[in-house]
Parts: sequence; structure tokens; C-alpha cells
Amino acid sequence: MHATRAIVRMMSSRSSQRGPVGWTALALCGTAGAGLAVYYNVEKERRQTQATTKQTTHGKPSLGGSWTLVSSKTGYPVTDASYRGRYTLLYFGFTRCPDICPAELVKVGEVLALLKARRGPEVQALFVSLDPKRDSLEQLRFYARDFDDRIDFLVGTPEQIKTAARRYRVYSSIADGDQDSDDYLIDHSIVLYLNGPDGGFLDFFTQSTNARDVVAGIMKHCG
Ligand code: NI
Repeated sequence: MHATRAIVRMMSSRSSQRGPVGWTALALCGTAGAGLAVYYNVEKERRQTQATTKQTTHGKPSLGGSWTLVSSKTGYPVTDASYRGRYTLLYFGFTRCPDICPAELVKVGEVLALLKARRGPEVQALFVSLDPKRDSLEQLRFYARDFDDRIDFLVGTPEQIKTAARRYRVYSSIADGDQDSDDYLIDHSIVLYLNGPDGGFLDFFTQSTNARDVVAGIMKHCG
């Protein structure tokens, strides 16, 4: 339901928009059919605009880059460089997300289990909170108990989170509710980002990609 509102917001603020919303916004939290139809129109228009602004795009989109956050596992700062030598699977969300984020995190757990069963590469799964106001380290630790314990839950200052999200063109916006109270939802992209052992972005998987196909996608990149 709240995705529709986000789409309307995107449409109305498009001319003054700063960061590129990008294709990642294709998958918004709680996307409804009607909203999606509207979105595709927005997306089409955006593509047309892009085509006229002479953009050069080769192969994969330029996603990824440096960021600094805090690990709720250790309580210490981590950066993208902390995970060199390992694949990372990055997801952005918030712990009060009613359904989408939990479902994606369950999927990530399935991905990790499948990878292990198939003797795939070591993949560090990371959840980045888009909700620094409510997602304290303590809250993240509490939330993490419901999911695979190999997932590390990260948060940071609003600025740090903004930077990390921007690196992956993650869209997020306060939706229903009051930001001054603790009662609000956040519309956000629902995408898993795969990065290689060198930290470089390799691939992304949308909400519609099931665990098996995510694993296949990961294996493809580390054959
Ligand atoms: Ni969510």
C-alpha cells in the first residue's frame, strides 16, 4: 500500500530529484499491482530522458563503492573494505518493515544454506538499516535473532546510511506515519546486491528472484 504513495511522491518530485532513483526502485516494499503499473510509466519516461541526455552505459551499472557503518555483531565500525576476500550480499531495509524485509531475510538465510550445501563460495550477508532513528544496535541484535546468524546487521549515522544507500542507488523514503513519532513506515528498494571478493559490484537480485535462483546467480559469478 505505501509503495503507491512513494510512486506518487517520486512522480511529483522527479524534476527536483537529486539522486538517481534508478531501476532499483522497481522493487518497492509492498508494491501493489496498480502502483507497479504507474511506476512502469515513470520508468519509461525516465529511460526516454536518459536516452536524450547521452549517457554511456556498458554492461553492468556502476554500483557499489566505499561506505562506513557499524556492525551490530561487534559494535565496531566496518567498511566495504572489511569484507575483502569474501563475496557480500547486501540488502537495505528496516526492522519495523512488516513483511517484505523479514521475507527477504528468510530468503537470504535459505541462500546461505543452499550455498553451503552446494559448497559454494563464502558469502557474507549484510543487512543495512535505512532507519537509524529506531534501529539501534540493540534493536538490530534483537531482530537478528529471527534470522540466520551469519547475517550481519549494520547501521550508522543518517549520513553514513545515506552514503551507503547512494552507492547502490537504493531508494528510501518515510511513508505512512509521523517521523517525529516512532510510528512510520519506510518505502525502500527491495534488492540484493552481490559484490565480489575485490568489493566490486557483480550482480543484483530482485524480490521476485527466489533463493535457488539467487544461488544460481552467485555461482555463475564464481565458477
Ligand atoms: Ni522492508
